[in-house]
Amino acid sequence: MTIEELRQEFPSLSASVNGHPLVYLDNAATAMRPRSVIEKWNDIVTNKNSNIYRAVHTTAALATKEVEQARECVRRFIGAESTKEVIFTSGATASLNMLAFCIGEAFIDRGDEVIVSAAEHHANIVPWQMMCRRKEAKLKVLPVNERGELCIDKLQSLITPRTKIISVAHISNVLGIVNPIREIADICHRHGVLLAVDGAQGIVHCSIDVKALDCDFYAFSGHKIYAAPGTGVLYGKETLLNALPPYMGGGEMIANVKWEGTTYAGLPYKFEAGTPNLAGIPTFIPALEMAVAMRCKPVIDNERGVVDYILEEFGKDTGIRIFGNPANREDKIPLFSIAVEGVHHEDLALIMDKMGIALRSGQLCAEPLMDSCGVTGMLRASFAAYNTLEEAQYFIKSLYRAIDMLR
Ligand SMILES: Cc1ncc(COP(=O)(O)O)c(C=O)c1O
Repeated sequence: MTIEELRQEFPSLSASVNGHPLVYLDNAATAMRPRSVIEKWNDIVTNKNSNIYRAVHTTAALATKEVEQARECVRRFIGAESTKEVIFTSGATASLNMLAFCIGEAFIDRGDEVIVSAAEHHANIVPWQMMCRRKEAKLKVLPVNERGELCIDKLQSLITPRTKIISVAHISNVLGIVNPIREIADICHRHGVLLAVDGAQGIVHCSIDVKALDCDFYAFSGHKIYAAPGTGVLYGKETLLNALPPYMGGGEMIANVKWEGTTYAGLPYKFEAGTPNLAGIPTFIPALEMAVAMRCKPVIDNERGVVDYILEEFGKDTGIRIFGNPANREDKIPLFSIAVEGVHHEDLALIMDKMGIALRSGQLCAEPLMDSCGVTGMLRASFAAYNTLEEAQYFIKSLYRAIDMLR
């Protein structure tokens, strides 16, 4: 598949904004959706609109089949052992909140410790803070170096006999560097510590095999990998999920409900109380099919070309500070967060929007990282497989024009 053929599959890429063809570089926030995903959603609400699991009628059976087929697609995509390990949620945030709560209930006592990295999204900080406050546990922080790489060499000394779990991003949404999850998993497991991975960005840019990574949990959102918004997954090893209590109570998560007490359903339903996003979940089927199709040489070469081009361009301007520039360029995804000397990130984003370019500016949901970098915010361009080198060139040209206007 060529990039042009790929773009044809995404109708929203043909939009115009402020009189310019849209150049959509906010993919880390949410991706565009291919026609196949839109058609799947449409098919469900038009032809199979029914609540799942509960009823004996034909439409309910069709809807249920779609959801379970999506679960099997996700299982295969991430290399999980069983569909029991694939829990549907409303997104990475919901997955991480559920995980932090349940881990707290099952495994955390007063004085225990949890470790997160300095480069986490708020969704992988705040739920752990809330749990630590509730359980009187301590949250510790693994630093990153000046290139944005995790200081893995410091991890060993941060771990104590009280450390119960480490939760880190596979790829930070600010730094765009692939973290060495397998290496972290090995360190964790040598010390009897669990490893949770915030895969919100990792699921898009890496081939995920949860068994090869040996992580205990992996959380991600559907909307960043072309599926419908309001969908997400929490993967967990079956034995661990079985050891956790449920998060929410309600329909479908129960075995029996009596006034004397309730028994719970087996996996994965124990964690799926209430009516899920029954039109959104089946969109994982075409979305993941698209994600697999994108793993072809022209698309990968194009992405590497974008990374090389942008890093070289930024390297020429001493007034541009780039956050996340790893020693090994292979670890960098096409996501670039910058601060420009003497220019406010939001002014740049507003001017570039007038040129048709969609960017993100601000704290990028990572305030502690902004503080440690000594900035109030950044400008972020995040590319997807369907963004072209020409768009990258237009982005750079427009950025310099905008900087000239503001300086
Ligand atoms: C690294 C990371 N973690 C978590 C999230 C939260 O994802 P969501 O808002 O889809 O729940 C994001 C979203 O940008 C992210 O980039």
